[in-house]
Amino acid sequence: MEILKIQTTRLFIRHLTLLDLSDFHSYRSDADVTKFQGFDIMTIEQCEDFIKKNSTKYFGNAGEWVQYGIESKEKGKLIGDCAIKLQQNDTRIAEIGITISPSEQRKGFAKEVLNGILNFLFETKNIHRVVEIVDAKNIASIKLLNSIGFKQEGHFIENIFFKGKWGSEFQFAMLKREWLQLNKLISK
Ligand SMILES: CC(C)(COP(=O)(O)OP(=O)(O)OC[C@H]1O[C@@H](n2cnc3c(N)ncnc32)[C@H](O)[C@@H]1OP(=O)(O)O)[C@@H](O)C(=O)NCCC(=O)NCCS
Repeated sequence: MEILKIQTTRLFIRHLTLLDLSDFHSYRSDADVTKFQGFDIMTIEQCEDFIKKNSTKYFGNAGEWVQYGIESKEKGKLIGDCAIKLQQNDTRIAEIGITISPSEQRKGFAKEVLNGILNFLFETKNIHRVVEIVDAKNIASIKLLNSIGFKQEGHFIENIFFKGKWGSEFQFAMLKREWLQLNKLISK
């Protein structure tokens, strides 16, 4: 069982605990945050239940999403969360997701988190490919992934019945060799 702790310049990415409950609930109960996500706004009880169930999960289990807290070093509190899932049939492929609290958005935190996670997955774990699937209307996510250098591989048209209507999604991915090249860790 791996206790994940990633440190970036301004953040810690670490396991969620019940001490995060009130901060977690403050943005998980915001409709702007859940608009493009696979969950709806959550009550405090649902948040507590989620954190408790998630606390039994660890990095490395195939096919299981594990949620991690994003803690601001400056504020000493949770400003978002992110999730990593290793693919069921091949744990060298990972899927990720990220949420930043609205009051902390547009400050480069998501970019810092994704760079930290990619560094962890590609450079310390045997990960070949990282995938993120986003709603085709989720401009913030699309800009984020483009800004990091993810490639848009797929555009699925009305592939998901989501919050009462058909939605379309983009699939973005990054390969280890692309990451290493982007970070100039290997010669072209
Ligand atoms: C997507 C999300 C995580 C971005 O977080 P963030 O911390 O605000 O992003 P950053 O500040 O690191 O910005 C990264 C890039 O995206 C751009 N961006 C971020 N939000 C944007 C917005 N609302 N509109 C346009 N561009 C946006 C930034 O300008 C930046 O681009 P640049 O590096 O070229 O300047 C955040 O908007 C969020 O939590 N949304 C709700 C949850 C969600 O939908 N998550 C995705 C599903 S997995």
